[in-house]
Amino acid sequence: MSEPGYSYVLNTWNSSSDCCREWTGVACDFDKTPPQVITLALGTLSLSPLGANLVLPSSILAPLFRIGSLVHLSVPGNNIAGEIPGEGLANLSQLVTLNMGNNRFNGSIPPQLFSLRKLEELDLSYNLIEGTLSVDMGNLSLRNLYMGRNLMVGEIPIEIGNLNMLQVLELSSNKFSGEVPSSFSNLTELQVLSLRGNKLTGEMFPLIQNMSKLQALDLANNSFYGVIPGWLFDIENMKQLYLEGNSYSLKNLDQVPRCQFQGLSLSSCNISGLIPSWLCNQTQLTFFDLSENDLQGTFPPCLAGMSLNRVVLSGNKLTGSIPPRLFDSRTLYFLWLGRNNFNGPLPDTIGNASALRILMLGSNNFSGQIPESISNLSELLLLDLSENSFSGNVIPTFRPNSSLVFVDLSSNRLTGQIPITFAVGTEVLILSQNEFSGALPQNLTSLSKLTYLDLHDNNIRGEIPASLSQISSLQVLNLRNISLEGRIPIHLSKLQNLRILDLSHNRLNGTIPFSFGNLNAMTNKGDGLLWFPYLQTLDLHDQHELEVSWKKYKQGLSWHNLQIYTFLDMSKNLLSGDIPGTMGNLKSLKSLNISHNRLSGKIPRSFGDLQSVESLDLSNNSLSGKIPTTIAKLLELSNLDVSNNRLHGQIPRGPQMDILNDPSDYANNTGLCGIQIQVLCPEQIIKVPVPRERESWETWFSWEMAVFGFLVGFFFMILVFSRIDYFDFARHTSFNYQSKHISMMNKSSSLSNLFSLYDT
Ligand SMILES: *[C@@H]1O[C@H](CO)[C@@H](O)[C@H](O)[C@H]1NC(C)=O
Ligand SMILES: *[C@@H]1O[C@H](CO)[C@@H](O)[C@H](O)[C@H]1NC(C)=O
Ligand SMILES: *[C@@H]1O[C@H](CO)[C@@H](O)[C@H](O)[C@H]1NC(C)=O
Ligand SMILES: *[C@@H]1O[C@H](CO)[C@@H](O)[C@H](O)[C@H]1NC(C)=O
Ligand SMILES: *[C@@H]1O[C@H](CO)[C@@H](O)[C@H](O)[C@H]1NC(C)=O
Ligand SMILES: *[C@@H]1O[C@H](CO)[C@@H](O)[C@H](O)[C@H]1NC(C)=O
Ligand SMILES: *[C@@H]1O[C@H](CO)[C@@H](O)[C@H](O)[C@H]1NC(C)=O
Ligand SMILES: *[C@@H]1O[C@H](CO)[C@@H](O)[C@H](O)[C@H]1NC(C)=O
Ligand SMILES: *[C@@H]1O[C@H](CO)[C@@H](O)[C@H](O)[C@H]1NC(C)=O
Repeated sequence: MSEPGYSYVLNTWNSSSDCCREWTGVACDFDKTPPQVITLALGTLSLSPLGANLVLPSSILAPLFRIGSLVHLSVPGNNIAGEIPGEGLANLSQLVTLNMGNNRFNGSIPPQLFSLRKLEELDLSYNLIEGTLSVDMGNLSLRNLYMGRNLMVGEIPIEIGNLNMLQVLELSSNKFSGEVPSSFSNLTELQVLSLRGNKLTGEMFPLIQNMSKLQALDLANNSFYGVIPGWLFDIENMKQLYLEGNSYSLKNLDQVPRCQFQGLSLSSCNISGLIPSWLCNQTQLTFFDLSENDLQGTFPPCLAGMSLNRVVLSGNKLTGSIPPRLFDSRTLYFLWLGRNNFNGPLPDTIGNASALRILMLGSNNFSGQIPESISNLSELLLLDLSENSFSGNVIPTFRPNSSLVFVDLSSNRLTGQIPITFAVGTEVLILSQNEFSGALPQNLTSLSKLTYLDLHDNNIRGEIPASLSQISSLQVLNLRNISLEGRIPIHLSKLQNLRILDLSHNRLNGTIPFSFGNLNAMTNKGDGLLWFPYLQTLDLHDQHELEVSWKKYKQGLSWHNLQIYTFLDMSKNLLSGDIPGTMGNLKSLKSLNISHNRLSGKIPRSFGDLQSVESLDLSNNSLSGKIPTTIAKLLELSNLDVSNNRLHGQIPRGPQMDILNDPSDYANNTGLCGIQIQVLCPEQIIKVPVPRERESWETWFSWEMAVFGFLVGFFFMILVFSRIDYFDFARHTSFNYQSKHISMMNKSSSLSNLFSLYDT
């Protein structure tokens, strides 16, 4: 996506020059008189400086359908929307190559396409094409078929077996299901087969047993099962083999392959034993993923000298230290060794691995200081050293303009002041569960792009610096249990994006700031921002969940759906005074916990406006008066704790209130009564039937309403954003595995740098 297409294609299209000889993207057959246009290569035309987001209607192609001599037509990457113009294409009966990939074509594949009997290469990948693969496809004499990244469904038709010339079949990232038909075994010319990311099942290997020309086989992320056969390693041309994300198994890796792999993924294949030494003789190997197996032993030193660029060994039982030479590599950019038993200090050479962008070493037993040389890694985007035994008070000083966006050093034994020596662009900083001390630095604000700051369980002390309110991008701020004192700064409410704030288990005093009613992200009922899309892209199941108290339990919120939560936890402090009525503005808040403080006065009537709240804990304060009847309006409420206060009078009734009937939630007050705790109220005894008080309409919600409200809340909670497959399959026989795909993701954030990992 470097140059805008216009400049080098259409600029040469001059009506007074010879189109066959001087126009870029046009080729002619000069044996004909007059010469006939046979090739039109019109890729990425809409990427003009002004038209980058221009959507073109598919009717724009109409003029091309009069050029009946066309043999090769390609219009990829033009943002063309609408259905594939079947009738027009039927005119181009000489077509051998048709490339319409990387557009926004929708609808199903038009039947006319199957009348193009000379068609050998069809590329419709990266579109929005629906429907099934037609049985008519068996009429074609295709060699290369690219249908990856569409929305196709159904089974792969038996007629696919007729395509016995097929060399490339790329059907990845669709929704194909069922078993692949046995006729598939006829495709003995196949060199590239990708079925990655569908819902296919069966064993699959018996069907490919005779495909001796296979160079790339990608069956990852389906529901295939069975034992990986030994003959797979005897296919001499095999260069790329990806089988992860199925129910395949392989006892060990003892069999020496007869091929030279470039890429190999056998993640989650139940493999035990050692990392085999033959891996070191695989001189072409650049990527291997043996994660989530049962591998033991050490990191083979001989691997260190190879030109690897991605190494994934997470989730095994590997021990020992990392060979220092590994970091002399100039190619290594992705190293993921999380959840093993690696130990010892990290070698100082780590700073030499100049290409390193993603370094994930979490959940091991590395010890010693974090080597200062890490800060030399100018390309580093993501650093995860969490859950190790790193110690000391020396934290590497990164250059302010380095690429770092994500730092997780949590659960180590780091000491000293909270370090702020990270890149200015750092968005996620997790330093929790260490032994950091001293006051929170005023100049934490130099990290002005932070969206996520987690410092919980340290020994920081001191006050919350008011300057924190300058980090306006903050969405998650966790300062739980770090011995904070003093008042909560009123300016904290300036954090307009803050949706999760945990100040619990400190010694904060004074009142809850009136201004908290202005915490914008907690007042708006919206979907929240889509956070950290790269974490989803990478499927970083090593990344810690954010731990919060939620409905009485400490629970982890997954990174995948963090954006649907809004939390405010100020429990276990020394807060006093009235609860400000403005807090009723926090309409999108799902959990409010102000328990275990010294709050007094009444529960504000405005709490009835906390329309999203599911968990409300006001217990262990000195609140007095009645529970306001407005509480009955909270249809999402499934957890209410008002125990250990000085409340009295009738517990309000309502569809949701009536089922919140655990007596311990109301215990130790001074005269609460109501059906929930089976205590008759004095006025009920006297006046029968129950009089309609001024606000009693609020309790007249129908049960249907309650059930509906509950269901909506429930589905909202379980909404999980579908993961994006984190590797994309090579589209062409060049075996450039990090294919040139154009990321569909939101590019607005600098985190999009991470996507480009797969585009390089
Ligand atoms: C078009 O081609 C003619 C003849 O080659 C040339 O004189 C003219 O400058 C070109 N026009 C443009 C806009 O390039
Ligand atoms: C295809 O896209 C066009 C334009 O974006 C839209 O008008 C049409 O309804 C879509 N058709 C289908 C079948 O989704
Ligand atoms: C097919 O080609 C003929 C002859 O050039 C032309 O008149 C007709 O419009 C074309 N059909 C379509 C659908 O473009
Ligand atoms: C593979 O080839 C062998 C020998 O040509 C043949 O016997 C066998 O049936 C073939 N297997 C499949 C699945 O087509
Ligand atoms: C971690 O390493 C330390 C020495 O640095 C050792 O004492 C400890 O037993 C190790 N822990 C585990 C779980 O292996
Ligand atoms: C932050 O402030 C401390 C003193 O409070 C100072 O030592 C340190 O150099 C400052 N760091 C930056 C990056 O400004
Ligand atoms: C607070 O943090 C300390 C360590 O800093 C830990 O031992 C303690 O269990 C934590 N308390 C709570 C309530 O999480
Ligand atoms: C509120 O906070 C207290 C103290 O942190 C905790 O024990 C309690 O479980 C929390 N309440 C809810 C409903 O999660
Ligand atoms: C009520 O108070 C008593 C005495 O302080 C205490 O033992 C009990 O646990 C409290 N009940 C609840 C539910 O908190």
